[in-house]
Amino acid sequence: MPQLEANGLTCLSLFSGGGGLDLGFERAGFDHIASFELLDVCGETLRANRPDWDVRSGENDGDVRRARFTQFRGVDVVHGGPPCQPFSIAGKQAGAEDPRNMWGEFVRCVLQTRPRAFIAENVPGLLDKKFESFVQEVIIDPLASNYTIFKFRLAAHDFGVPQARRRVFFVGFRAARDASRFREPAPTHADDAGVFGPLLPRNTARKSLGLPEIGYDVVSPTLRSGFTGPRNTTGVINSKAALKVWNELQIWPNGVQPTHAMALAYPPENGHFRLSVADCALLQGFPQQWKFSGAVYQALGQIGNSVCPPVGFAVAREVAAALGAYQ
Ligand SMILES: C[S@@+](CC[C@H](N)C(=O)[O-])C[C@H]1O[C@@H](n2cnc3c(N)ncnc32)[C@H](O)[C@@H]1O
Repeated sequence: MPQLEANGLTCLSLFSGGGGLDLGFERAGFDHIASFELLDVCGETLRANRPDWDVRSGENDGDVRRARFTQFRGVDVVHGGPPCQPFSIAGKQAGAEDPRNMWGEFVRCVLQTRPRAFIAENVPGLLDKKFESFVQEVIIDPLASNYTIFKFRLAAHDFGVPQARRRVFFVGFRAARDASRFREPAPTHADDAGVFGPLLPRNTARKSLGLPEIGYDVVSPTLRSGFTGPRNTTGVINSKAALKVWNELQIWPNGVQPTHAMALAYPPENGHFRLSVADCALLQGFPQQWKFSGAVYQALGQIGNSVCPPVGFAVAREVAAALGAYQ
């Protein structure tokens, strides 16, 4: 994921979490205006990595429900990933009935700031038939008279991330000319790289972690967020099927340790490789320098909740291109 030169565009981040999407936008050359995030620990991560960013976190300053967005009118792009639990197949899929549903706030921000473009990200479950009317009534209808809206899915492993992770994106443009220039991000990596042009081979889990060859290597299963599932969990297993893949990879996805040294000091009984927080961040596509604040479960929460930065970068770059930034 390269660092592109400043593209002259500003962006406002909602639901910033541990900064996956924010980082992708920064790498695409955007100027970060502010981040809103409910959890203080996420705010600490953002401030520690980017002391010069305007980070508003916690119940008083970070809750989007209390934010007056009109102060940001004139910002070029608004982006955010509203909490996905209301739509995730890992949850009850209560959708609009779930008090964590914040889509209305994202829409309010777009209506009040009137950016040239917006980007919203979520779990693929949001495109299930059962949420069709929710998507139409809560997201599309309030914005469609001012924005041309694109809806598409991306897979992180198509963008060099050594993990199976699919997400859905909504991208809207205010000007028809910008919308006509927009292209969905094209994959940069594939299984059959070379057959279809200049694609790179997929990055796989063991190779990315620097582990020796065992005759089997694939992208890792989706990492579960430490903010979901059992309280304060330090495991990243998403499903029984995922456990099978972790086993075949000979990687131990429970009891993730704060550091490499501690992970090496406590090998599991079966001799598999125990993960550290830094390993999980790497499997999510974060650069090594990006550090997560908080206890292990909080770091895993921020990692597993995040947009893989290379995916965020790919979307941000296409949006900037559509806005005429690189001409
Ligand atoms: C899916 S995560 C976003 C991850 C982020 N886009 C990234 O790439 O790292 C959703 C975030 O929304 C935050 N959140 C939930 N309710 C909020 C609210 N009312 N105001 C601000 N942030 C909120 C959660 O704490 C969580 O960090």
